[in-house]
Amino acid sequence: MCGIVGYVGNQQALNIAVEALRRMEYRGYDSSGVAVAGAGTIAMAKRAGKLANLEDKITEVGADTLQGTTAIGHTRWATHGRPTDENAHPHMSFDGKVAIVHNGIIENFAPLRDKLERDGVELKSETDSEVAAHLLAQAYNEGDTQGDFRASALKVLNGLEGAFTLLFMHADHPDQIIAARRSTPLIVGVGEGEMFLGSDVAAFIEFTKQAVELGQDSVVSITADGYEIMNFDGSPAEGTEFTIDWDLEAAEKGGFDSFMMKEIHEQPAAVRDTLAGHWDGERVTLDENTISDTDLKSFNQVFVVACGSAYHSGLAAKYAIEHWVRIPVQIEVASEFRYRDPVLDERTLVLAISQSGETADTLEAVRHAKTQGAKVLAVCNTNGSQIPRESDAVIYTHAGPEIGVASTKAFLAQVAANYIVGLGLAQAKGTKYPDEIRAIWEELEWIPAKIEQVLQVREQIGQIAQTLGQVKTMLFLGRGVGFPIALEGALKLKELAYIHAEGFAAGELKHGPIALIEDDLPVVVIVPSPRGVSQLHSKIVSNIQEIRARGAKTIVIAEEGDTAVEPYSNWLIRIPQTPTIMQPLLATVPLQFLAADIALECGNEDIDKPRNLAKSVTVE
Ligand code: M6R
Repeated sequence: MCGIVGYVGNQQALNIAVEALRRMEYRGYDSSGVAVAGAGTIAMAKRAGKLANLEDKITEVGADTLQGTTAIGHTRWATHGRPTDENAHPHMSFDGKVAIVHNGIIENFAPLRDKLERDGVELKSETDSEVAAHLLAQAYNEGDTQGDFRASALKVLNGLEGAFTLLFMHADHPDQIIAARRSTPLIVGVGEGEMFLGSDVAAFIEFTKQAVELGQDSVVSITADGYEIMNFDGSPAEGTEFTIDWDLEAAEKGGFDSFMMKEIHEQPAAVRDTLAGHWDGERVTLDENTISDTDLKSFNQVFVVACGSAYHSGLAAKYAIEHWVRIPVQIEVASEFRYRDPVLDERTLVLAISQSGETADTLEAVRHAKTQGAKVLAVCNTNGSQIPRESDAVIYTHAGPEIGVASTKAFLAQVAANYIVGLGLAQAKGTKYPDEIRAIWEELEWIPAKIEQVLQVREQIGQIAQTLGQVKTMLFLGRGVGFPIALEGALKLKELAYIHAEGFAAGELKHGPIALIEDDLPVVVIVPSPRGVSQLHSKIVSNIQEIRARGAKTIVIAEEGDTAVEPYSNWLIRIPQTPTIMQPLLATVPLQFLAADIALECGNEDIDKPRNLAKSVTVE
């Protein structure tokens, strides 16, 4: 996820900006850059790769060319456009007077870019961000906002759609930065005779502990002496001042004890950002997709290949795609795929799901699928990585960098992206009417707010984990799309707590695993909505009774208003009402908390780096 920094003050801004960027490194990035405003000019240095590359670039151009007391800086995590020098931020306007840095996605960048090109502006990068620099220069140079930095910035901001944090610097106003946030983070740091901006407080915690939180859709202007907050229409607005009581290490984790906890809490944004830009008001758009509608129509089967959590997200997709598209979906752990000689042809779509885009097993499965003539669509969280590079098309998940080895937000983003693919297929093949697709899309759009609600179970889960103490084994049961949730819950527990955990299809229990049930064995049960396929709900209620009768302690995850499960739950965790097919996006969250809390009970403090595991598994 991009990191943004800004400084206006009384010291050389370059060093402060580079230091602040160093504090943003933990967010994950593939390029970085700074721009410094001097008297009437703006100088810039940027480079793909690590911060060390930027420092080399600064040495090349000479730090003395980057003198000034106002600077903006950026660590980029590529979304639109590859990680290259040109695509790195800042971006400058055609007249060299404006520099901008941006985090988020400008969804209407394509028409804005077309208009700029028609106006004769030559764009230098492939990013969605660069348009903002040129638009500001145009607004400042002509019309009713001419010569007015603030009015020009507001004009540009009001023409942008999507989620963004933007910082604007203008050479004619070298002592000022104007910044805005809409759905992406931006915090103001208040020093003595100096002001800071950062994606989070880690950017400036070394320099000041006084900060201001901005409301949603806020614009802020900073100078060395202070800040002024306004709404997008220019009317005055307020922020909330606070004193940072974290140390630097905690600040990098957003105040959480671990990256994993931080990432669990980032899930509403991960799903929202993944959905963003894939609905044009009428239709699902697979805009990063180079598989044509004709191809989509022609597919008569889907194979999903993935590993670990990505595999579980694919299993959820199987239920959704078969239901929506009415074609068979086979799912295979990627490491087995090519060894069993699957039957593929040019009418087969292979969906390859990978957070890292580097997993060797999945990559080999992609290569095998291509040799068999199938089309490969990657779902990936890492721009420019190998799997999307070798696939025919890609849908990127926008979860931001995932640092915790156990996948959390990337998993939820994968489920969301897989569902986008499912809806795209249903639309192309006409297996769902447009109003049905719209209704499903609207349900998906509610999900981020519902995840926010689920995050409130944090405390309840902590208490459950404490009561359970150092458990030795745990089972997870689900039916239908609850089955992949059960598998994911069990995997999280194995990874973090190092205890035996298994997920089962609840109906399979009586065919063997029920022998494992003994007094006090904790069993998690994911209950489908009672408003859905009714037999599914009543069958799982029977399954809960069967295990309770044999002494199990049940931790039941059920939607609000489902009273049928109450008598059979030792612990009942509520999730908001949602169609059962969407449940993986909600019911997984308590299981992530549960695994983390049980791990801590078992004495595993470092949940970010479980033993024996690697974040990217690049060997078969
Ligand atoms: O990068 P990928 O999505 O391809 O990784 C796949 C698995 O290695 C990964 O999901 C792994 O299972 C996680 N540690 C699960 O938490």
